[in-house]
Amino acid sequence: MLPNIVLIGFMGSGKSSVGRRIAALTGHRFLDTDELVMARTGKSIVQTFSDEGEAHFRDLESAELRALESARDVVLATGGGIILRPENHFALRRIGPVAWLDADPDLLFERVSRNRKRPLLHTENPRETFDALLAGRRETYEAAADFRVDSTALSHDEAALAVLEEVERRVSGRD
Ligand code: S3P
Repeated sequence: MLPNIVLIGFMGSGKSSVGRRIAALTGHRFLDTDELVMARTGKSIVQTFSDEGEAHFRDLESAELRALESARDVVLATGGGIILRPENHFALRRIGPVAWLDADPDLLFERVSRNRKRPLLHTENPRETFDALLAGRRETYEAAADFRVDSTALSHDEAALAVLEEVERRVSGRD
């Protein structure tokens, strides 16, 4: 039986797109913590950040994560900052194997620059902010993840297959 699958990674790493493809391949239900927070608040993430601040968003995000601990047959994409609270690492692992989707920083930045949905990058120099955040978080993704998939040279379909293959390898105990 295939377990739940959890995707973490920086903004622009393709967690939602890859997660939807894994869900289509497996029959699992796709969930996304950002979407769950938006459904709960009735607001965009940008609006929540500007009305209540980042710490409040982190509370909401962590609460949605906790509510999923007994979920079954799901693929969960998470917001890029979910790993900032150490207690969330346990919650992520309780849900299922945690895959870190990673990619070349230039590619990540090019993807996040396509829209203005990331409030943390609404700064005078978004690239500088982006680089500083990424540098500060890499070790934390590594610590929170069971394995990493570098999707720089992969399509979303290929990244989905790579994650699935690794999860299946782990479940079957192959090395
Ligand atoms: C954030 C990433 C966003 C969203 C929020 C904060 C972060 O999700 O949760 O803007 O701190 O990296 P994506 O990773 O889906 O962009």
